[in-house]
Amino acid sequence: MNIILLGPPGSGKGTQAEMLSKTYGIPHISTGDILREEVMKGTSLGEKVKVYMNKGELVPDELVIEILKKRLQEPDCKKGFILDGFPRNLRQAKALDIILRDVNLKIDAVVYIDVTDEEIMRRLSLRRTCKVCGRVYNLYYNPPKYDEKCDICGGELFIRDDDKPEVIERRLKVFNEETKPLIEYYEEKRLLVRISGMSSIDDVFRHIAEKLGLKKG
Ligand code: AP5
Repeated sequence: MNIILLGPPGSGKGTQAEMLSKTYGIPHISTGDILREEVMKGTSLGEKVKVYMNKGELVPDELVIEILKKRLQEPDCKKGFILDGFPRNLRQAKALDIILRDVNLKIDAVVYIDVTDEEIMRRLSLRRTCKVCGRVYNLYYNPPKYDEKCDICGGELFIRDDDKPEVIERRLKVFNEETKPLIEYYEEKRLLVRISGMSSIDDVFRHIAEKLGLKKG
């Protein structure tokens, strides 16, 4: 199955994509994770994109489209894929249509996870991410067992640079202006599936699986 997860920052796209990926054995492709890795490694691409990411702006389309195109050509994507954080605007959505058409693939569903702005602020201000394996926690909703250490690998947890309140506000504005029009784009293609992201992580997962008709993993 080829799925896009769409939603505002902090709506739970990464959390749900990871659960879907583990349960159904489909690769999770997060443009945000790929870009953050480049920043952490200090590559020239990382240096370029850091400036945009730290301000809560979108990285230029050409860079992200190229990254995505390469990633979709990797053999594991033959099993399907879960796109998290791409596309982010109409230009990227149209580029994706062309990339997929050229390799004879199509999107099966676009899941829009809806969450209020107040909840986003609460979630992102308490998010912690493992420096080593990238697992995402929330100090209130799904805290690590031991203070500030990853349950899985013991790695140190950190606060993302773009989770500062002023940057979250900018990311929300960018989402409303640039990404929200994709709801209509995919609605017209009859691919959009709306899910409330306001319930627990497990309930949101169950609703997504039900709506997509996925069997229990
Ligand atoms: P990206 O990494 O994609 O960030 P985002 O879309 O803003 O989304 P987040 O990762 O912040 O949140 P999420 O929805 O994945 O939520 P999560 O599961 O972590 O992009 C970052 C930056 O990279 C962009 O600003 C841009 O600069 C650049 N970029 C990336 N892609 C790009 C593209 N295509 N084009 C251009 N630029 C691009 O959950 C959040 C928190 O809530 C966690 O603490 C989690 O534990 C908790 N949580 C999750 N679900 C629930 C729940 N149901 N109940 C309670 N808590 C929950």
